Amino acid sequence: MNNSIIKGIGYHVPSQVVTNDDLSKIMDTSDEWIQTRSGIKERRWVKEDEAASHLAIEASKKAIMMANVSPEDIDLVVVGTISSDYFFPGVSAQLQAELGLDKIAAFDLKAACSGFVYSLSVADQFLKTGMYKTALVVGAEAQTKFINKSTEGRDIAVLFGDGAGAVILEPGDSHSGVLSTHLHCDGKDLKYLWMEGPGSSGACQINIDNIQQNPSHYEPHMNGKKVFQNAVVRFPEVIQEALDANDLSIDDVALVIPHQANLRIIQAVAKRMNVPVDKFYANLQRYGNTTAASIPIALCEAYNEGKISKGDIIILAAFGAGFTWASAAIKW
Ligand code: ACO
Repeated sequence: MNNSIIKGIGYHVPSQVVTNDDLSKIMDTSDEWIQTRSGIKERRWVKEDEAASHLAIEASKKAIMMANVSPEDIDLVVVGTISSDYFFPGVSAQLQAELGLDKIAAFDLKAACSGFVYSLSVADQFLKTGMYKTALVVGAEAQTKFINKSTEGRDIAVLFGDGAGAVILEPGDSHSGVLSTHLHCDGKDLKYLWMEGPGSSGACQINIDNIQQNPSHYEPHMNGKKVFQNAVVRFPEVIQEALDANDLSIDDVALVIPHQANLRIIQAVAKRMNVPVDKFYANLQRYGNTTAASIPIALCEAYNEGKISKGDIIILAAFGAGFTWASAAIKW
């Protein structure tokens, strides 16, 4: 069976840069606290009139241009996001309309920080069966619209940022492209990283009483220590799973592109795998954690910096809310 190949990539981030010092003016935090705990120096925030679809459209246009496909060639859109413009429908519907695509299959996928790798895997399966021929796969987030930007929400607010990345996937050959994907979820710990509302559970329905009595239901919450402990186990596991499936060793891999959650997580994973940390690409210093967008943005920047060449093996690895975790092995 033929693999899918990545024909085009693109990313877009909002123009508004928010530094750690900017944050310390609106909440009780400091550049030192944030950098020591996470490695993050600055992030991008959408402006009031921007939403996830605006970022997704710009990233998609760049991927389409690089792939040199025309919009009418695209027959599948999958968008990984947890911060769509509207509660429903998804960003995918907006992309279909705004990019002038035919009335093709388009849907969103809610797997949080694993959303892009999950979306890539889903698109890859459709291409492998021959059901679709050209897929636009996007990770897009405008999640800073939901975070509590006061001292109360500082544990979350300092870590996250906005952005989008996109790829065009097409059928290739059996030697290169997406060699394998592995997806996992363990929902027993879902409350360690979640946003309850708006939702269909009683306490999360949107009504005046709920909003007045439980405003914090409508913002994300995280047990940072539990997230850290799980991430540093799941990342190595799912990277090793990708290696084993393809009869590869980590020495065969040119670059691991991990979800950009936290520099300390990346460093801990490299140490556990006994791999030099520079085998792991990191740009979270400039963007923070952009959830589903982090891997495609990092992929674009790594490529633009000349860190990925034709024939290289790269591994995408994700971990996030759910908990979900996932990997993709790709021969470029
Ligand atoms: N600025 C200053 N102080 C803060 C901030 C902040 N932004 N946020 C929390 N604090 C305070 C807390 O109130 C607490 O104070 P207290 O001790 O007086 O109660 C203290 O800092 C907590 O400090 P630590 O316990 O030392 O924090 P820790 O070292 O655990 O670091 C962190 C917290 C960064 C969240 C860490 O647990 C972590 O890295 N976890 C992983 C979380 C992560 O990366 N999430 C990303 C999203 S999930 C994903 O994408 C996979």
